[in-house]
Amino acid sequence: MRFPEGFLWGTATASYQVEGAVNEDGRGASIWDTFSHRPGKVYRGETGDIACDQYHRLEEDLDLMADLGLKAYRFSVAWPRVQPEGGGPINQKGLDFYRRLVDGLRERSIEPMLTLYHWDLPQALEDRGGWTNRETSERFAEYAGIVYEALSDTVTFWITLNEPWVASWMGHAYGVHAPGRKDPSEALAATHHLLLGHGLALETMRSAGGDNQLGVTLNLHPARPARDRDADEEAARRVDGQANRLYLDPLFRGEYPEDIVSYYREHGVDRPPVRDGDLERISGSVDFLGVNYYFRHHIRDAPDETLSQVPFSDLAARPIVPHAAEKTAMGWPVEPDGLAEVLLRIKEEYTDIPIYVTENGRAVYDYVDPEGNVNDEERVSYFDSHFRAVFEAMERGVDLRGYMVWSLLDNFEWAEGYSKRFGIVFVDYPTQRRIPKTSARWYAGVISRNGLED
Ligand code: FCB
Repeated sequence: MRFPEGFLWGTATASYQVEGAVNEDGRGASIWDTFSHRPGKVYRGETGDIACDQYHRLEEDLDLMADLGLKAYRFSVAWPRVQPEGGGPINQKGLDFYRRLVDGLRERSIEPMLTLYHWDLPQALEDRGGWTNRETSERFAEYAGIVYEALSDTVTFWITLNEPWVASWMGHAYGVHAPGRKDPSEALAATHHLLLGHGLALETMRSAGGDNQLGVTLNLHPARPARDRDADEEAARRVDGQANRLYLDPLFRGEYPEDIVSYYREHGVDRPPVRDGDLERISGSVDFLGVNYYFRHHIRDAPDETLSQVPFSDLAARPIVPHAAEKTAMGWPVEPDGLAEVLLRIKEEYTDIPIYVTENGRAVYDYVDPEGNVNDEERVSYFDSHFRAVFEAMERGVDLRGYMVWSLLDNFEWAEGYSKRFGIVFVDYPTQRRIPKTSARWYAGVISRNGLED
């Protein structure tokens, strides 16, 4: 199974999950600093204060990437490092860090893939309403312009947002992520302002010129009825509406899916605060779509459910994990064919533009064995099956150009703290020692062969 010439094999990380150094060189506070320090929000009270300390261990991590033969590295820029107050003065030291990062990648022939927003909103903007306030979309476009001006000579791949669904719903309706709000009307407002911010940032970057590739990353999950019942079928359709179509439709069709917006309206949730011209901006053309895929949603109708921390509790729907499914350490079912399903759906229903898998991976209960090795065979077979699934989708016409595995390193897994390990490289947190796992060596082989053995 040989992948096309130039296929971009890489890994992904995100600023708050790996950088640490939260109080250094002029970085401002983000909503994740605030949230993780609030008692009871993150498992064992862990925070990203130190994380993988990548801010101080950049050279070592760059060498590690080169050693694995990575063709690409997806990372995110921490907005509060660049603009500590979310607007106004630029912190040059913050930009310098990312300049060192992208130059270090180029020196090692690794393609940088830059994400502008992976959830670490400056706290100063949250204090004025955050993503529920339209002003944040404008600030985001300004910030995008600043980073673009500083790095567009070196960085070709630009991703505006990472997973606006998670930022909106986990952060504003279910309260599991920063900023910890619990109001579906706010989640819909956040959705709209994130997407508007994407559209405005796109305009800013396009008008600055340069022959770069601009895109956005969505987390997409096929939603299926858990049982063969009409009520489950309808519940799965609501979940699909909120989780997938609420983002795909405005981006690629210039409209919000009316079924889900009306459902919410009938249940007392405000419509997204759309103004004239917004949808044209949101649907401004992107050069590629980033897809993050982890699992399918299997949905039951749950008429008595009320809003809680459980996703879709506001939709009278409940996700279940099929009894027979293999599960990861996150409890997520392993479903490689769901990834092919997502890619084919995009092609059939939305767009033919190139796609990159910008995240996919699994958590494993990894440990260092007495010989000093981390044998994560489960992760190897996970990636093997997902790579095979996308290969088949490509044979059916999907224009997939690259694949970023999540993640390079074990890191701060949001509300799960450090308890969940997703890396192909093990991080021994007390010493910050990096130990490539079996999957890292295996992945290096896939990259050097540009494919899998049959
Ligand atoms: C995605 C996030 C990423 C990581 C993985 C496991 O939703 O984008 O930061 O936490 O899940």
